[in-house]
Amino acid sequence: MKEILDTILNSETQGADFAALPLPDSYRAITLHRDEEHMFDGLAPRDRDPRKSLHLDEVPVPEPAWGEAVIAVMASAVNYNTVWSSIFSPVSTFAFLRRYGKLSQLTSRHDLPYHIVGSDLAGVVLKTGPGVNIWKPGEEVVAHCLSVELESADGHNDTMLDPEQRIWGFETNFGGLAELALVKTNQLMPKPKHLTWEEAATPGLVNSTAFRQLVSHNGAGMRQGDNVLIWGASGGLGAYATQYALAGGAIPVCVVSSPAKAELCRSLGAELIIDRSAEGYKFWKDERTQDPKEWKRFGARIRELTGGEDVDIVFEHPGRETFGASVYVTRRGGTVVTCASTSGFMHEYDNRYLWMSLKRIIGSHFANYREAWQANRLISKGMIHPTMSKVYPLEEASQAACDVHQNLHHGKVGVLCLSPYEGLGVRDHELRDKHLAEINRFRNV
Ligand SMILES: NC(=O)c1ccc[n+]([C@@H]2O[C@H](COP(=O)([O-])OP(=O)(O)OC[C@H]3O[C@@H](n4cnc5c(N)ncnc54)[C@H](OP(=O)(O)O)[C@@H]3O)[C@@H](O)[C@H]2O)c1
Repeated sequence: MKEILDTILNSETQGADFAALPLPDSYRAITLHRDEEHMFDGLAPRDRDPRKSLHLDEVPVPEPAWGEAVIAVMASAVNYNTVWSSIFSPVSTFAFLRRYGKLSQLTSRHDLPYHIVGSDLAGVVLKTGPGVNIWKPGEEVVAHCLSVELESADGHNDTMLDPEQRIWGFETNFGGLAELALVKTNQLMPKPKHLTWEEAATPGLVNSTAFRQLVSHNGAGMRQGDNVLIWGASGGLGAYATQYALAGGAIPVCVVSSPAKAELCRSLGAELIIDRSAEGYKFWKDERTQDPKEWKRFGARIRELTGGEDVDIVFEHPGRETFGASVYVTRRGGTVVTCASTSGFMHEYDNRYLWMSLKRIIGSHFANYREAWQANRLISKGMIHPTMSKVYPLEEASQAACDVHQNLHHGKVGVLCLSPYEGLGVRDHELRDKHLAEINRFRNV
């Protein structure tokens, strides 16, 4: 592994040098263990501790098959899906690996007694399998997390509709929180040259998801001037949604839970901000009963901020706790677009407000390759910026997951994998200097 790292760190290295590098027999990776998948049974999801289930193990290196590559991972990031994996909720991800393993001899490699998690990376192509023509050893890349087989006709308009669509590092093995990763090469995209390895590793999953959910015609198809209510507007997804709203000429109404988070949204350029903690919204009277008076109070507050207008789009992901309010506050003819249910997936809302006011609910999930590419292009051009607040070494990835689980983070948190320290990997200093303040906005909040 030292030879691989030295080759990457040596500025004189050519692609041929990477092609000549032998792969090691094993590498360090953050794993879950199948024999522990019931360790939290009986505990509520919020009481399950990722530090107990995530391990740092030495694992064997997989050989890249047709259309695959082994990547030297310089840095990765913690996504909420790693939190879900680590608390074995709502299901154990070993169930995904078992199912994937049944598809073919090749996919059976994923069904192992350990699951290497992580759905983001920035790194260098080390070795490609047969049938790979456009990616070469030595290329600096980021990987999006869409894994598809595309054997069925269904996925050929929009690859997210492939019946064998999976999220790499969540529903497949050999993920990004590791020194090496195995990906399909149609996950690869050029690393933004003005960013460090860790900055480049953090946007991928959430940036692509927010792009599809808010901007793409497959999601809400946001237009100039739209009022967009964004839950968790300084969090993983939300800070990208806020940036897309502002960059696209829309008007974000940012919901956050602290003055520090409100300040982050303000520094991004948002003007309409609701601190849900300070204003004390309580949409549920008890576990079974919602409080429409609170929906109304929330709607009135939005109108107060917008000068009397309702929101055209609600960017939803908290789920059960907020969904009733989201449907209520959406403008007549407007759209609730949802990609998640952090607080619970059994949603309840008053359907009269949906049908009588001709509103739409759209489900959105990650992004197809083209959407991920478009979202990455905007990062590469310095038009959308990383939101990295903190970086952890690989040894502390479980603490990073714990912090995200406890909602103690801002924006995104990065994880150093092979990169020995922060700040490496910048190739375009001119573009970086131009955007340094925006790139560092979430640091040390
Ligand atoms: N389908 C997909 O492709 C996809 C992709 C990415 C993420 N997700 C899912 O989306 C969810 C959010 O991911 P993320 O990366 O944005 O996580 P995150 O970084 O934790 O941010 C979520 C934010 O939502 C807000 N929030 C949490 N619980 C809330 C509640 N009960 N009511 C109101 N606001 C609440 C919090 O902000 P405040 O405390 O400031 O309000 C939090 O910072 C997760 O469930 C994740 O699994 C799905």
